[in-house]
Amino acid sequence: MLIHQLLWLAVCCGFATSEHRGNDTEKQSTPVTHPLLLVSFDGFRADYLKTYSFPHFQKFVSDGVRVGYLTNVFTTKTFPNHYSLVTGLYAESHGILASRMYDPQTHKTFTIGDTDPSWWEEATPIWVSVQNSGYKSAAAMWPGSDLKIKNSTATHFLPYSPKVTFQERIGNLTKWLKDDSDVRFAALYWEEPDRSGHRYGPNNTVEMAKALKEVDNNIGLLMEQLQQANLWGKINVILTSDHGMTQCSEERLIKLDNCLNRTDYSVVDLTPVAAIMPLNNVSRVYNLLNKCHPQMKVYMKENIPERLHYKYNERIQPIILVAEEGWTIVQNGSLPRLGDHGYDNSLPSMHPFLAAHGPAFRKGYHLSNFNSIDIYPLMCHLLGIQALPNNGSFVKVRCMLESETCADLAVTVGIVIGVLIVLTTLTCLFRLMKSRGPSPSRPFARLELQDDDDDDPLLD
Ligand SMILES: *[C@@H]1O[C@H](CO)[C@@H](O)[C@H](O)[C@H]1NC(C)=O
Ligand SMILES: *[C@@H]1O[C@H](CO)[C@@H](O)[C@H](O)[C@H]1NC(C)=O
Ligand SMILES: *[C@@H]1O[C@H](CO)[C@@H](O)[C@H](O)[C@H]1NC(C)=O
Ligand SMILES: *[C@@H]1O[C@H](CO)[C@@H](O)[C@H](O)[C@H]1NC(C)=O
Ligand SMILES: *[C@@H]1O[C@H](CO)[C@@H](O)[C@H](O)[C@H]1NC(C)=O
Ligand SMILES: *[C@@H]1O[C@H](CO)[C@@H](O)[C@H](O)[C@H]1NC(C)=O
Ligand SMILES: *[C@@H]1O[C@H](CO)[C@@H](O)[C@H](O)[C@H]1NC(C)=O
Ligand SMILES: *[C@@H]1O[C@H](CO)[C@@H](O)[C@H](O)[C@H]1NC(C)=O
Ligand SMILES: [Zn+2]
Repeated sequence: MLIHQLLWLAVCCGFATSEHRGNDTEKQSTPVTHPLLLVSFDGFRADYLKTYSFPHFQKFVSDGVRVGYLTNVFTTKTFPNHYSLVTGLYAESHGILASRMYDPQTHKTFTIGDTDPSWWEEATPIWVSVQNSGYKSAAAMWPGSDLKIKNSTATHFLPYSPKVTFQERIGNLTKWLKDDSDVRFAALYWEEPDRSGHRYGPNNTVEMAKALKEVDNNIGLLMEQLQQANLWGKINVILTSDHGMTQCSEERLIKLDNCLNRTDYSVVDLTPVAAIMPLNNVSRVYNLLNKCHPQMKVYMKENIPERLHYKYNERIQPIILVAEEGWTIVQNGSLPRLGDHGYDNSLPSMHPFLAAHGPAFRKGYHLSNFNSIDIYPLMCHLLGIQALPNNGSFVKVRCMLESETCADLAVTVGIVIGVLIVLTTLTCLFRLMKSRGPSPSRPFARLELQDDDDDDPLLD
């Protein structure tokens, strides 16, 4: 029946605009001409953008893409999230689970600054895949980039040193990009606003305004350096972060010494997610911890909620404690930091920002949110390399791209309803005309033209 077919057509075309066609690996055959630069400003909470002023950032997104926030991975710590950005994997799958770890197989202990690459070997970072595809990479301080993961550092890299200024980092990167046209992927890491967030707490708006003004100036410097190197407009740039920050307080301490003896357990990591190894009676330690403090959740490893994707790895200890937002776990003692992160990744205060600019990206486009693990398949797509198995999805991020046809669900539903109304009206008219006399014109023929792609930008 004609009406039935037209309806079907209208519905199909409406949804084709919001549906991802095919899988993530099959569309990567286009030759790549534009390099990609991934930048992380550590601890850049998404809502800083609403509370403070960012003139250079505004310029960056005015002809680029702005994303409301990213849902990052648990634990919302620096190393796990930086590795998720470049692998597309949850922490349990890439093996960098926290800032402090213990591996029961090798009996090794990991802390920040550890230079043993074996911790990173459960995954392959994107710069290694880029190099395996015959291109080169460059990295300035991105966590892991100066270690031989899978027997390879980034092609060009700076050994980690917090003393190297932002200007020196971006200076080295633009030089590598300019001098070596084989460099397709570059990564840049900067310690602020994380450092200030820890030191002053995010509620200290005077200090945070200073730190964020400096971050914004660095965004300006980045654009300027790329312009001088004749790369601006030719390079795809993604600005993002690993996690947010929340205010802690001396009044919100959870003291383990109040609940059990130190001889009953050893602690691998402490706050806001503690990793506990009971030394003799596991259930006794669990019971003592479980009634320790109402603002602390206690999980046996096998009962950690699936949604955290923080369970299936040898390096996760038998008991995990998770503090509620703003609470700090200590054994005995005072508050170590005024601001902290690491909490549940569903908390808005833990969510980082994202913005993108370059030939591949839409201009003046806004997307509400996606997962930080989705950035990996996006980057593989931009680089034209095969994505390794990962937990991300290209479906949501593809809407950032100029080359993709995309409408949000509300617009799509609107189109479908609109088409239905038009069809119903025309059906009535058609019946009316038919009942009036023999008039075999085909009013539906025009309708097929209405199913063109809808490119309206999102309405927030
Ligand atoms: C995706 O497409 C590629 C190439 O067509 C194919 O080799 C691969 O098996 C597909 N993967 C999935 C998960 O369907
Ligand atoms: C590691 O890389 C070096 C050269 O960079 C090479 O000589 C060596 O064979 C590689 N080892 C493995 C195990 O791939
Ligand atoms: C590269 O970084 C080093 C410090 O590691 C610095 O001395 C040098 O000036 C930087 N180069 C450029 C071009 O900025
Ligand atoms: C920090 O600021 C937030 C938002 O203004 C407020 O809800 C919270 O209570 C403050 N925290 C502390 C410890 O003052
Ligand atoms: C801690 O050890 C002391 C002395 O051995 C003992 O009296 C106390 O009951 C223990 N507390 C707990 C919670 O096990
Ligand atoms: C372990 O502790 C539980 C509860 O505290 C107790 O019932 C059990 O007997 C203890 N087991 C051993 C082997 O001590
Ligand atoms: C914990 O701190 C209190 C007060 O500072 C002190 O009296 C107590 O001895 C400490 N306990 C341990 C186990 O360090
Ligand atoms: C994440 O991806 C890895 C690699 O493909 C896979 O082994 C793991 O099961 C995935 N995790 C989830 C929760 O799907
Ligand atoms: Zn961080």
